Amino acid sequence: ENDILGKLPLKGKKVLITAGPTHEAIDPVRFIGNHSSGKMGFEIAKASANLGAEVILITGPTHQKVSHSLINTIPVVSANDMYNAAHEHFKSVDIAILSAAVADYKPKEVASQKIKKKDSTLTLELEKTKDILASLGALKTNQYLVGFALETNNELENAKDKLKRKNLNLIVLNSLNDTGAGFKSDTNKVTFIDADDTVTEFQLKSKAAVANDLLNKILEKINA
Ligand code: CTP
Ligand code: CA
Repeated sequence: ENDILGKLPLKGKKVLITAGPTHEAIDPVRFIGNHSSGKMGFEIAKASANLGAEVILITGPTHQKVSHSLINTIPVVSANDMYNAAHEHFKSVDIAILSAAVADYKPKEVASQKIKKKDSTLTLELEKTKDILASLGALKTNQYLVGFALETNNELENAKDKLKRKNLNLIVLNSLNDTGAGFKSDTNKVTFIDADDTVTEFQLKSKAAVANDLLNKILEKINA
């Protein structure tokens, strides 16, 4: 519907998107995960394709479905898989939007057999995963790089810090404090902060509408 005037403003552009949670194996039958639905990333993928972009959608395990000739979906499981897939494609894209809820820690050792129930307590040693967004930020040449930030306190300050530390062009701050926003819901309340410190606050709206706001912002920036 966006080419009603024969205009597809992202035609010829390539967009990389990460979506969903990651699953970090504990043993062959168990993992550490989170409640991310993947909805935000899939809406961004659809909105990008509807504007004519060629989309590489790298997604952790979700129930989301999308079928669009311009969207190439790459399913992954762990943070490490997502890291590898993102690095494989980053050099060829114009825009990268990292909306995935990547696990920050993973089990240091993955048991090769199912862990049996024994003592009354069990301690798992965890180690940090690689930060995909920070790594792409360090490699960035001409790509427009967008990250998300999930904060519960000192929101603006923490988001601005992430924007700088990870060398981003734009960060989308997700407010978990607002009811109806966040991981499982169909709505989101966001604030955009860009590298020149412009802060734009939005009302609670559908994730599809947030995706459109985000792409409008990116178009404004890359065409400026
Ligand atoms: N991210 C990533 N790889 C990771 C962790 C996070 O690419 N291993 C990305 C997310 O996709 C998001 C951004 O980094 O775009 C910020 O994620 P967030 O969890 O808010 O911040 P962290 O840097 O992980 O810090 P913390 O969780 O301690 O706030
Ligand atoms: Ca994190």
